[in-house]
Amino acid sequence: MKRKDNFGPEQSLDNLCLVELAKKFGTPLYVYDGNLILQRYNELHQFIKWPKLRIFYSMKANFNVAILELLNKRGAYLDTVSPSEVHLALKVGYPKKRILFTANNLTDEEMDEVQRTGVRFTIGSLSRLDKYGKAYPNSEICLRFNPDVVAGEHSYLQTGGDITKFGILMNDVEKVKQIIKRHKLKVVGLHEHTGSGISEKEKVYQSMLNLIRMGKHFPNLEFVDFGGGFKVPYESDEKRIDYEEFGKNLTRIFSEFCEGYGKELEMYFEPGKYIVAESGYLIVQVNTLKNNRGRLIVGTNSGFPQLIRPMLYGAYHHIINLSNPQGSKKKYDICGNICESGDCFATQREVPEIREGDFLAILNAGAYCYSMGSIYNLRPLPLEVMVIDGMQRVVTKGLSNVELANKVLELSQ
Ligand SMILES: Cc1ncc(COP(=O)(O)O)c(C=O)c1O
Repeated sequence: MKRKDNFGPEQSLDNLCLVELAKKFGTPLYVYDGNLILQRYNELHQFIKWPKLRIFYSMKANFNVAILELLNKRGAYLDTVSPSEVHLALKVGYPKKRILFTANNLTDEEMDEVQRTGVRFTIGSLSRLDKYGKAYPNSEICLRFNPDVVAGEHSYLQTGGDITKFGILMNDVEKVKQIIKRHKLKVVGLHEHTGSGISEKEKVYQSMLNLIRMGKHFPNLEFVDFGGGFKVPYESDEKRIDYEEFGKNLTRIFSEFCEGYGKELEMYFEPGKYIVAESGYLIVQVNTLKNNRGRLIVGTNSGFPQLIRPMLYGAYHHIINLSNPQGSKKKYDICGNICESGDCFATQREVPEIREGDFLAILNAGAYCYSMGSIYNLRPLPLEVMVIDGMQRVVTKGLSNVELANKVLELSQ
């Protein structure tokens, strides 16, 4: 589906391949194209030509072990946000030096647990900074500042400005310096993350400029981390961002800063969506059709616990009728099997005629889909398959309905 004019999400696995996988493994089914994940990871290094560039894959986007392993082999770094993410990263084989921990609203116990693993901390509040300093004086840390720029594809995905729980206000830098001094902490990194799915390049540049203005207060910097947020197209008429030009501008801004700072620092980014979103498909099967006085309602065998972005953010995910791609288009509400009225992947969406038994592919399902999944209504999460170099492999097993019920019993006391 990739178009020459660079509009819309990329469909790197064709309909035939997706139907074959659906028949072979059953549905609902998550499929990931490993080659596209590697391509996206490599591309960032081509776009951002900085000798000390480090790409930290933001594993919250998708913690699938096969994806983590794939990126680990390429030497990727990891952005982690919870103790379990850190433990998983270490168990997969990431060296602690390639892991950055940037949690928010951490407990003291969690702080100690992660500290013991030896990974580097990014701290985003004065309160945590003081507690960390008291517990671990003389250590090296990275500081997360609020970049004071509001951007991102939904208000829940904007992490800068006043209405956010993230980061330390830049106005509070003198307070930061007092805490640093009191506990003899060494600030080796600065961090900001403005939001997810940022379409306005100027806002990214502004966040960078705001953060690097903090540089003058911290003479021991080794790196600056500009977070994630690289947008990919979700809608068919959305133009792909020109990341080549973007990369040149980012590099120029950083290069000018490093010149003034007097040291060539490492430049970090933490993309999640960019690396994995387009690699993923959720394949579902239609089991029920209704006509509510002209409104066509499609019932499928999946639902929002398996892909929540439309319900949570009103996000658009392109949907393909794999079984009838040439059918005449009609408008449908494409719904799931969960007992909630909001359980819809798309409303009033034009799709080639849908029949009971058809397989539908929901695109851009690689980021923040399985990883945001739940077992609401006690429905097991789907199987995950990876396709790479023409090989297909189940990379996460699914539980049967009975196994899930047994799991619940097993955990109950
Ligand atoms: C601190 C931080 N870094 C990186 C990311 C990844 O963002 P994205 O997937 O949009 O690249 C997030 C997303 O929430 C984040 O909170």
